[in-house]
Amino acid sequence: MGSLQGMSACYLADHMSIGGAFTLTCIDPEFQPEFWSNIARCSSPDRVRAIQKKSQDALLSLPCRPFQLIHIDGWHIAPQVFIDGLFSMPLLADGGYVIFDDYLKEDQTTKNQPVKAGVQAFWEVFAPWLDVVIDGRQLACRFSGSLCLDSVVSKTESVLKAITGKATTFKERPADFADLCQTVARDHMDDLFSVSWGQASAFRIPKRVAA
Ligand SMILES: C[S@@+](CC[C@H](N)C(=O)[O-])C[C@H]1O[C@@H](n2cnc3c(N)ncnc32)[C@H](O)[C@@H]1O
Repeated sequence: MGSLQGMSACYLADHMSIGGAFTLTCIDPEFQPEFWSNIARCSSPDRVRAIQKKSQDALLSLPCRPFQLIHIDGWHIAPQVFIDGLFSMPLLADGGYVIFDDYLKEDQTTKNQPVKAGVQAFWEVFAPWLDVVIDGRQLACRFSGSLCLDSVVSKTESVLKAITGKATTFKERPADFADLCQTVARDHMDDLFSVSWGQASAFRIPKRVAA
């Protein structure tokens, strides 16, 4: 998600075509005009599809679990990165990878690392199911196992509370992961986007590289 002119999409398509059949789903609310001409020059352009929507809306409309790799390179502010990670997890297959681009990038003015802050909050919720495999300009994690809804719900509640400063308990327990994401989108997005994310840095990702 975050496809712009299609540079990362072309890279992914060229490399995934080595492994055989694939479908690459690109999400961006504003694809650049060169996107399709760039895709036309990459391997298997017929395997690329584009969804012109904000990631939070597109992710909620996609079916669960078919994705082997999710590359997050959309709006580089902490709440968006957290939401992109949270809404991606129900879509990721067991053994799949989630990659956060520009993980260490600094905001020129504040010197904050907004992507890292968003990833740290995401990590706080999903750490039991993730192994860090690349830890640098990008953070790549391998997902394994089966998500536990109760644990994800209670961790999401505590992260929302830590960030927004508001006591957060979902009015009704979400029925499943899709319902959890819908609930966050409906009831908590405004709060997440309206506060400073200073406290998010309280969450830590251990330096850990899987074998
Ligand atoms: C850093 S650029 C992506 C660069 C691209 N991956 C490449 O390799 O050329 C960020 C992109 O995120 C998109 N974007 C902004 N908000 C978004 C959102 N809510 N959902 C998805 N994409 C978003 C922008 O339109 C922009 O194209």
